[in-house]
Amino acid sequence: MQTHTLLMPLDMHLHLRDGVMLENVAPLSAYSFSGAIVMPNLVSPVSSLKDIQEYKQRIMASVPNDYFEPYMTLFYKNYDKAFLESVADDITAIKLYPAGITTNSEGGVSSFNIKEMSETLEAMSELEIPLCVHGETDGFVMDREAEFMSIYELLASSFPKLKIIMEHITTKEAVEMLDKYENLYATITVHHLLLTLDDVVGGMMMPHNFCKPIAKRPEDLDALLSVALKAHPKVMFGSDSAPHPQNKKESCGCAAGVFTAPIALQLLCEIFEQYESLDNLQAFVSDNAQSIYGICPEFKEVTLEKRTFVIPQNYSSVVPIYAGQAINWAIQTVD
Ligand code: NCD
Ligand code: ZN
Repeated sequence: MQTHTLLMPLDMHLHLRDGVMLENVAPLSAYSFSGAIVMPNLVSPVSSLKDIQEYKQRIMASVPNDYFEPYMTLFYKNYDKAFLESVADDITAIKLYPAGITTNSEGGVSSFNIKEMSETLEAMSELEIPLCVHGETDGFVMDREAEFMSIYELLASSFPKLKIIMEHITTKEAVEMLDKYENLYATITVHHLLLTLDDVVGGMMMPHNFCKPIAKRPEDLDALLSVALKAHPKVMFGSDSAPHPQNKKESCGCAAGVFTAPIALQLLCEIFEQYESLDNLQAFVSDNAQSIYGICPEFKEVTLEKRTFVIPQNYSSVVPIYAGQAINWAIQTVD
């Protein structure tokens, strides 16, 4: 039987939520990943030292039997330097959302005024705190990410020492930015390596494939594959696994978010094998992230095997991508 082993897989963009949802989904990520960058967009966003420390404790309490490192993030506001110094040891990054652009982002940035942001961004550069960005404007939905490129250019050129991570990129325009600015990096989800807009609304409307940013055109998918499959050193896997209860997805006014965490590694093996790139998967799911973020996760060895695996219809209240469908890779062992 064909197998493939991954060491210390990392998920560099993960939504774990809180309360019962956290208790349901955190063990699923902790099973197969060594750690994850945990998004701060709770209903009341993570924005103080107390919020960070208490949320981390709740996460750890939800995964009692597994080793799993939650790399904590703070919700971006124009914080002053003294505050950033006081939280620097407790966070791995700060996550910036344009106001109102996605789930629980109402308190985000409403105008990209470099002057107003400069104390925070200068301090982050000095303290070596990376800035993770949800890069979408409020324009036409298919153009939102491409339109945001000028803001990435402004941020990257104004703060050349700041590591800026273009989160969950979905377009060829974002791929092109990687080689243009030394301090721009990116995460890519597994669903954006599989879906185009056709898989969301081209036939029947598929709520479980709907997320922000929305899946784009075939040429965008090709551009994402071109950097992911060769594990371009500036790209990392970040699932953006975003659980919403089934009734919030299968409803009028479907919440944005695709749930992939428990099947992400299996799907990645399938994609990388299909394109004869399995040898590059280790760099994409861990090594690049370790170098970019300078993190050293605890040892974890995940062996996958090539056999038919039917994706469950649901994980508690959450329906995953491709529910009920057969894929070609399954997790064999985790040590
Ligand atoms: C995320 C969520 O549900 O929190 N949704 C999504 O579609 N990706 C928020 C986000 O990352 O945009
Ligand atoms: Zn996200």
